[in-house]
Amino acid sequence: MNDFIQISKAQAAPPCTVVIFGASGDLARRKLIPALYNLHACGQEIAPRDYAVLGFARRAMAVEEFRESAREAAARFSRLELNHDRWREFSARLDYLAGLDQPDGFHKLKTRLEQLEAARGLPPNRIYYLSVPPEAVPECAERLAEAGLVARPGAANFTRLVVEKPIGTDLESALKIDGALRQYFDESQIFRIDHYLGKETVQNLMVLRFANSIFERMWGARNVDHVQITVAESEGVGTRAMYYDPAGALRDMVQNHMLQLLALIAMDPPVSLDADAIRDAKINVLRALRPLPPGGANALVVRARYGAGMVDGETARAYAQEQGIPAASRTETFVALKAYIDNWRWSGVPFYLRTGKRMPARGSIICVQFKDVPRILFNRERKLPPNALTIRIQPDEGFSFEVLAKQPGLDIAIRPVRMNLRYESEFSGPSPDAYERLLLDVMIGDHTLFVSSTFVEKSWEFVQSILDQWSANPEIPLYEYAAGSYGPEAAERLIAQDGRVWLNP
Ligand code: BG6
Repeated sequence: MNDFIQISKAQAAPPCTVVIFGASGDLARRKLIPALYNLHACGQEIAPRDYAVLGFARRAMAVEEFRESAREAAARFSRLELNHDRWREFSARLDYLAGLDQPDGFHKLKTRLEQLEAARGLPPNRIYYLSVPPEAVPECAERLAEAGLVARPGAANFTRLVVEKPIGTDLESALKIDGALRQYFDESQIFRIDHYLGKETVQNLMVLRFANSIFERMWGARNVDHVQITVAESEGVGTRAMYYDPAGALRDMVQNHMLQLLALIAMDPPVSLDADAIRDAKINVLRALRPLPPGGANALVVRARYGAGMVDGETARAYAQEQGIPAASRTETFVALKAYIDNWRWSGVPFYLRTGKRMPARGSIICVQFKDVPRILFNRERKLPPNALTIRIQPDEGFSFEVLAKQPGLDIAIRPVRMNLRYESEFSGPSPDAYERLLLDVMIGDHTLFVSSTFVEKSWEFVQSILDQWSANPEIPLYEYAAGSYGPEAAERLIAQDGRVWLNP
């Protein structure tokens, strides 16, 4: 069936200049440059007619060298193969300036932007993408303002600031950073990225829930037994020890990606598709999250780190033995927790969240398990497996619905069958990368898929309550799990004591 209903996102983005701070860094190379190239190569109608990309970093480099390193990055990381003509057009948009760390660097930036805009006939619509270490973010915001590079909100030409996670390392520092940003930028000018929100399957959560009448009617305590969210990664910490060890899984994954998924799966229907309406609906979920009771970090949360094991047929070393991990490290690479959302819709329904590195495979799923049918007819003799809706965020994007059916034959034999939708077989063409969607939305000025200031605050409040109990009670165990397993026994017990089991991706 080809019928589709186009819900227009917006008009085409106006011409602008994207300044990538930290343009020679990993994020720029792996994600931003390839995403910008893909947007160009796909000829997206809503992409701006004209735009420039200005790399701004510390290292002195000729423009040609920057273009060449961008080409290598795009060739390696772009989802599309590099097309010679498209690349030539795209690379003509690229420019580079060194001086991020110099005292007059931001004044040079201003001059270069003005020159670039004059030469290309671009209006001074500017997007500052801060792909810099988190501690450098407030200073960049301040220096932009000092250099006269921030237009008033609502001015004829826009200034937009894009920041990446992590925002802070705890509630206090997050509030401080966010406060510093808002000293120089209006909330309407700030785009906080959580790349999970740009994933196709995550965007589809709202469509699945609110464009289909069957699910929404079932969505809540009356019909749902419990919800599980698992984000499993097979990778270990790799070369990121410096960032990861002070952070750990709770800060790295739960505070942002996992709570975003929770908010999207649990929120009430927003009153409209406006960014504010959607973001408000999500925040209400966090407002209703039951605060962690005393002792909750022990009873409702399990932390662990991987020991040695086998992943994908290869031996994997223990976290403690990974490059750059301090001997005294007590960092968790796995968290499982049980949460409740104390509102009318979800009263009494447990939400089990679990994430970890070095699990058997990469796989993120949300599973909504429905209640059992009464034990009257088919359920009488032996409990039958309940219906479950499993949404596969990645990989093998799609969702399946488990129902029971009569096995053909003269007996009455019942067995679970799966109704399964796979994006790959249903929809033609690959999905855009999350960063393509998100960069385009910044250009358009659509905040729907970005994190609001209140979400940052509320998500940290929840996570902080766990961090506080962990630091006040060092005797709370840090379990170990074998690399290549789905976590420690304690995580199995967390759910098993409620008579339930984890469903693995
Ligand atoms: C990042 C975390 O935000 O998300 C990483 O810092 C993690 O530790 C990554 O590996 C997972 O993203 P994805 O898109 O691969 O699921």
